Formats: sequence, C-alpha cells, structure tokens
Amino acid sequence: MTGHSKQALYATTLQLDDALIAPYGGALVQSFVPRQDQQDLHARLPQLKRIDISARELIDLELIASGAYSPLTGFMDRHTYASVLESTILPNGMPWGLPVTLAAADEAVDSLSVGQGVALYHDNEAVGVMLIADIFPWDAESETRIFGETEEQFPQIAERKARKIRHLLGGVVSMLISRAAEQRLNRHQWPNDLRNLHVQKQWNKIAAIHLQNPWQRSDEYLLKCALEASDALLLHSSTETARAQGGLLSSVLKGASRLLLENYIPSNRVLENPAPEGFFHSSSRAILQHAIFSQNYGCESIFLPAQGALAGSQQELTNLFAEARKHGLTIRHVFLDQPFHCDLCGGIATEKSCPHSAAGRTIFSVADIAAQLKHGKSLPPTVARPDVARAVARGMANKTDPGDVTGKFLYPHASEVSRDLVESLAGHKAGVLWMTGLSGSGKSTIAQRVGRELILSGHRVYVLDGDTLRTGLNSDLGFGEEARRENLRRAAEVSKVLVDAGLIVIASFISPFSAERQMVRKIVGAGFHEVYVEATLDTCEERDPKGLYKRARAGVIPNFTGISSPYEAPELPDLRLNTSQLSLDECVGQFHEFIAQAGLSRADGHGHRHAVRNEAVNA
Ligand code: ADX
Repeated sequence: MTGHSKQALYATTLQLDDALIAPYGGALVQSFVPRQDQQDLHARLPQLKRIDISARELIDLELIASGAYSPLTGFMDRHTYASVLESTILPNGMPWGLPVTLAAADEAVDSLSVGQGVALYHDNEAVGVMLIADIFPWDAESETRIFGETEEQFPQIAERKARKIRHLLGGVVSMLISRAAEQRLNRHQWPNDLRNLHVQKQWNKIAAIHLQNPWQRSDEYLLKCALEASDALLLHSSTETARAQGGLLSSVLKGASRLLLENYIPSNRVLENPAPEGFFHSSSRAILQHAIFSQNYGCESIFLPAQGALAGSQQELTNLFAEARKHGLTIRHVFLDQPFHCDLCGGIATEKSCPHSAAGRTIFSVADIAAQLKHGKSLPPTVARPDVARAVARGMANKTDPGDVTGKFLYPHASEVSRDLVESLAGHKAGVLWMTGLSGSGKSTIAQRVGRELILSGHRVYVLDGDTLRTGLNSDLGFGEEARRENLRRAAEVSKVLVDAGLIVIASFISPFSAERQMVRKIVGAGFHEVYVEATLDTCEERDPKGLYKRARAGVIPNFTGISSPYEAPELPDLRLNTSQLSLDECVGQFHEFIAQAGLSRADGHGHRHAVRNEAVNA
C-alpha cells in the first residue's frame, strides 16, 4: 500500500463530553472508513489482496472499530499476543484478558508481507481494510490453556484447527460499513451509541453483569437484583454456537435465554449486546476483559458471580482488578452472592436474603441440568420457568436422537401454569392425604366426611377410593402382591394428576405393604401425607361392614388383608387416627386440624365448621 492508502486506516480518538466514566485508557478509539472515502476505497479494493475472515473475526473487527476494545486499534501483533497470553497485560503494561487475533490460511500467508494493505471480506462482502504489521505463528496450545478447558468450549479454536490455521496477522484495521453491516449494527449497542442513550435517558447508573444462563431461575434472580440496583443493564450475550457435542446443549440453552429475556425482562432497560464466547467464561481474565469492555460502553459498575461460580479465586480476580485500576480501570465491581432455591423461602434466594438452614437449599449446576435432560426429564419449576423448561425440552428433543436418550420418544411437558398459581387461585395448597389401614378400619367413612366438609367450605377436593378405582381403571387387577403394587402405582399416578390440577386428594387404599406406600410417596412427591387409620383386627372383624372377614375366614376370599395376607402398619405416619379408641367425630376433628397444620386449608379462614353449620341450617 502507498502512503496514501495507509491513511485508509482511519483510527480516530473520540472526544467524549458525556461526563460518563472514561473509557479504558482514557479515550474511545474508533476506526470506521468515513463515508466520503468509501467510494474511493471500494474502487481500489480489487487491487488489494483479499483475506476472508470468520464470523467471530468479524465481531472482533466490529468491536475494534467501534471502540469497544479501546485502547486496541487492530488485531494483536506477536508481542501483544504473547504478553496477553503469558502475563495478562498489553506491552504498555495495561492489564488485558483475552487475545484478539486474525487468522491467515497457509495459501494466503505465502503472498503476504509486513507493511502490505489487505482487504477483509466476510460472506463475499468487503468489511474492512488492514495494514499488516506482523505475521506470526498461532499458539493454539497456550490459548486453550488459559481457559484450562477443552477446545470444544471455544468454537474459535476448534474452527481454526479445522481450517488447519498456523499463522495470525497483526495490524491496525478500519471497518467499512456496507448496507449489510448496517443491518447487523442495528442489533448492536455500540459504545458511543450506548453512551448517547445514557445521556439522553438521563440514566445515572448503567451496569453490566457477567451472567451465563439467564434462562435459569437463579441467574434470572441475579439479573433482576442487578436491574433493581441500576437504571439499565448491559447484557452481553454470546454470538457463537459451539459446533462440538457440548454445543448442542449450549445452543438449546441460548434459545431458552432468548425466551426468558423476551418475555420476562423489560427490553428497554436490559440492553443486549453480542460479544465473543470467551467473555462468558468464568476465568479471571475473561471477567477482566468483560469489565474493560463494559467500561468502554460507559457502565459504571459490573456485577460479578460469587466465588462458587468463578473458575479462579476471588482473590486472584481482585488482584487482577487492582493492577488494572492503576492503569485506568475505574468501573466498580460488585460480587453477587451464590443464588440457590430454598424450599422454605419457596423461591430463589441468597445467603443475604434467606433465613433458613442449608437443608432445604438446592443449587443446580449446568452439568446437573444436562444430566436430567439427557435422561429425558423435564426441568422442575425450581430450575426454570415452565415455558422456558418446555422450550429446553423441545429443543433437546428436536436436536438429539431421542432413541439414544430414553428409547421411548417421550417428551413430557411441564405445565405452563405453575402449581403456585393454581394453588393461589384455589385459595389453598394441593396435596395427597393417603389413608392406609385394614379393611373396615374406617378409611372411607372418614375420607367421605372430611372430603364433603372441605368441599362445602370452598376447597377443591377429590376422594379417591380403592373399591371405586378397582371397579374402573383398575378392574383388571386382583389382590396378589404384584396386582396390589400395580393398583397402588396407578392410584398414586392418578393422585399426582389431581394434585397437579390443584386438588386436595383424600385417597383411601388398604395399601398394606410399607414398600408400596414408599413408592406412592415417591410418585406423588411434595405434598404427600400418610394417614394411618388404625383399628385392631378384632375391631375390624367385629364391624365387618361388608361381610368380607366372614367370607375370608370361610376361605371364600383368598389373600385377604389381616387374615390370609399381612398388613404392615406404618411406623411413623404423618397422622394416626385410632378408630378403636376415638369416635368418628373426634377422628374427623383431628383430621381437620392436621389438614390445617399441613397448610392445605384455605387461607381465608373458611373453616369447615362454618360450612357444616350452614349445611345443617339448609337441611
Ligand atoms: S390394596 O390392598 O390394593 O390397597 P384396595 O384398598 O385397593 O386394596 O382395595 C381394598 C378393597 O377391596 C377392600 O375394601 C375390599 O372391599 C376389597 N377386597 C376384595 N378382596 C380383597 C382382599 N383379598 N384383601 C383386601 N381387600 C379386598
């Protein structure tokens, strides 16, 4: 390139009068080819050697040109590259986290020389010009090592390996803004645009947040905490999709994050901005880089993940920041606490906001979640909102070979209406009161009475009875061990469906074996209560309301519970109602008390007595 064309590299230092936090290094260095020079440059492009750049390199070009990478003005030369890889600093001593490089294919390298001007193309479109200052070997190994992970996690490394790249090009660049580029730019917030918006909206505080999975409820919680503490948030999101195996999950999860952001986050206050994949890593360097980047955008603070979510230590990061502060890093960094789901809080909290013990707390890692998904399970509402969970499940189903996963081609849908909402509309919690006891112990009598009283006092209740179910859904089953097990499995599944519909289920089944009751408890999950309706065999045999004991004794009914088949009494039921000793009214009273204690009664105080009295008046 001649002296004239060297001026085609139009780095300009932007004088900012926005009174916002100063960019890293003091000034925003932009490098666009000015409009008046574009035509001239386009005419000369065919004479320049053409270098095709990847989508990722195009983002880097845009970030250099827009000043987001200030003080960088081009792709790194060998000294800068080595200094960043080895010591996390630029040659001038300013801390810098990640390499910013341009690859050259071997065929191109042979015809390139230092001092030469080249045209940068992407998708057959000229996107910029570069003045080559250095041609040097690519150090894939060190680049992989700085993240301490496999290259699959870094699409750029994998992509360069696939292209058999051996060399990098260093040098200053200028970006050409074509129509296609302008369209792309519309999706970006650029440092200067964001700074202008900041001033225009009279925002005082714009913050950035280092967050990877806003689709997850715990990250959403942090996002909202940060949003509460700021006027607006800059949220950098990755533009790349890993191609390797692990990338499948990451592309599905990106879609889920999209859904969350579009539906649950105010778009005028959370400004999304694409950034290269490396920025989202939890290493200290990536976080430093993110902080520098955010400062250039005018963010006065950056929210960072808790120790547990960092790849390095908080101390290492603090040291790195301290060093950078000597060189103009002024953005404030704020460590967020580790979020978890607390059963007792009934939602996401952190150590700062949760008064309960660790026992009911759960932290879900992406690895846990991936394992769940691989087994074809849908994500529980404590991990993701139901609609988001459904998008994840669908995404997985769409993209994997389900034959490998469950072998059944099933994709359970979680309801889009949460249990919380259903319960709050009903005015009471849902759950199962599982009554176990000998035939004739009084299960059905108590169940029917309590069920009726609850309904009359405004509760949504279903009384599920063994004898009844056995005449319909379970009419194919007898009383052998296997058949009883299946009988109870189905009863438990039905109960679960009814609980999902927001009902209180009063289920009366002899359910004689503790292993099977254990199974039922597991199927129903949260909200299961075991009620032992206790009566001695003598009492039951004496009552013999259906004449079954008589027939069992006579050998007419085989496998009769208590006579020719055992009953294993529960050792620690949630409630014990002894019908040999207490009257029906007393049992019913104790049952209502238990129901209230279990939180299943309507919160508005429609007591059962009230309704019963009404009924009596009406009668
Ligand atoms: S369970 O053991 O499988 O839980 P479930 O409660 O569904 O039993 O059904 C018990 C009812 O089935 C009894 O109330 C009784 O009317 C009838 N029944 C018929 N044969 C038997 C039997 N061999 N043992 C117990 N109950 C029986």
